[in-house]
Amino acid sequence: MQPHEQTPPLALVIFGASGDLTARKILPALADLAERGRLSDRFTVIGVARTEWSDEEFRKVALQDASAGGERWRALVERFRYVPGEYASTQTFDRLKEVLAEADQQYGTQGNRVYYLATIPSVFAMVAEALAKEGCNVPGEGGQFARLVVEKPYGRDLQSALDLDAAVHRAFDEDQIFRIDHYMGKETVQNVLALRFANAIFEPIWNRRYVEQVQITVAESLGVEHRGGFYETAGALRDIVQNHVMQVLSLTLMEPPTGMDATHIRDEKVKLLKAVDIPTPDEAVDKSVRGQYAAGVVDQSPVPAYRQEEGVAPDSQTETYVALRLRVENWRWAGVPVYVRTGKRLPARVTEVALQFHRVPFLAFEGELARQLRPNTLVLRIQPDEGISLHFGAKVPGEEFRVQSVSMDFLYETAFKERESDGYPRLLHDAMCGDATLFIRTDEVEQAWRIVDPYLEAWSEPGGGGLHLYPAGTWGPQIADLLLERSGDAWRVPQA
Ligand SMILES: NC(=O)c1ccc[n+]([C@@H]2O[C@H](COP(=O)([O-])OP(=O)(O)OC[C@H]3O[C@@H](n4cnc5c(N)ncnc54)[C@H](OP(=O)(O)O)[C@@H]3O)[C@@H](O)[C@H]2O)c1
Repeated sequence: MQPHEQTPPLALVIFGASGDLTARKILPALADLAERGRLSDRFTVIGVARTEWSDEEFRKVALQDASAGGERWRALVERFRYVPGEYASTQTFDRLKEVLAEADQQYGTQGNRVYYLATIPSVFAMVAEALAKEGCNVPGEGGQFARLVVEKPYGRDLQSALDLDAAVHRAFDEDQIFRIDHYMGKETVQNVLALRFANAIFEPIWNRRYVEQVQITVAESLGVEHRGGFYETAGALRDIVQNHVMQVLSLTLMEPPTGMDATHIRDEKVKLLKAVDIPTPDEAVDKSVRGQYAAGVVDQSPVPAYRQEEGVAPDSQTETYVALRLRVENWRWAGVPVYVRTGKRLPARVTEVALQFHRVPFLAFEGELARQLRPNTLVLRIQPDEGISLHFGAKVPGEEFRVQSVSMDFLYETAFKERESDGYPRLLHDAMCGDATLFIRTDEVEQAWRIVDPYLEAWSEPGGGGLHLYPAGTWGPQIADLLLERSGDAWRVPQA
């Protein structure tokens, strides 16, 4: 991971330019980069989508969607171009090619291209193949690179991910492909690497000898909002576990890399994912709980059940909650359960990783407080209130020798004044500079699907796994407690 100042000259082509992601994430990220002087002076954006906009209309939309942008952003938007068209039509790509050549002439983009697939996943392969057919998968005249940035989801199960990858690889080489998981753009996810590998005190205890269990929680208090139709085709396992949770899990548990570059870090992540136990369908049922929120109360307001949300079938079997008990079968982690849970309409929005350490072999302190001492726990808080907390026992002031659980907290916003972004500026900038460290390599995607596929398969069988309702505003179905109780463990209650 090298710090880059300015991108090289290039044209950024956004497929899906009239869509939600472009409006909410990509344009604001570009405005942020422009204002911080991170974009080359020889840079432009070309939007491609069906909506019949002119260049001028696209520019207007860009200014509206990234209204926080200042002088530099406004100057940049003046250069934006737009190609209206259907991705199935060769005319669209003929026109795109012309506009790219014009951009090289007018704006000095030098034949360098970054294509961003910010569109619906069903057309990813089609667009990649169309680009190759037009010869757009290689740099334009005098150029050095042509890259493809691909949004999630990358497939909807192992087979479709393999099919997509085969199609994309027919058009682009792996070193041209940048698969996005926006979690990897988060400072606090990257900080897992700093915490582990820039400090001497954590790594010696980061193993089965000291760690009793690991819990990864990705909790949302929101429901599906306006994305019910999309969510019906996904569910919590595909939407969160296959990508975000697997990323956080691999960074937290992988072996130390010998360098902080794309190859070394991703090699270690893949090695770790390959050590995650892949259950048989029967085991998958036994080691997982799937749930769906019923009506309930969140933030003191009544909220409807998932099945009453817009775009959701009244008898929907889609899970909005999933909990898994995973095993990592390697020298470092054998025997340490890794519990994973994610859900919508839980009591708080919080993403955290908690490493719970073994208790002392013998507790010589007396009294109720000592009996209630919680095990030492190191919590990496990814959002919100990004930071790290260490929970330990301390003496209560007074004559008696009493101990009680306390915590030592490091808060990002107190230590550093910079605000945490949603990751898009960082990831866009890295892709444009050609740094693939924070992007997901083909073997990572494949292995992550191999891990979750048995659950999908088991749940699709009649009677496979069942779907447990939980009231909105609670920590998921109670039966999820059983996943841990068997080993005498319990879910943490993350502080909101
Ligand atoms: N939205 C989010 O918050 C979010 C978050 C994370 C990841 N993502 C991912 O980002 C991608 C885009 O999502 P989105 O929410 O922005 O979708 P969206 O609002 O439905 O936008 C889809 C875009 O693709 C264009 N498009 C679709 N089919 C086309 C075709 N056949 N020919 C030409 N243009 C076509 C649409 O153009 P027209 O509308 O002009 O026809 C529109 O610009 C998806 O992969 C999604 O999973 C989205």
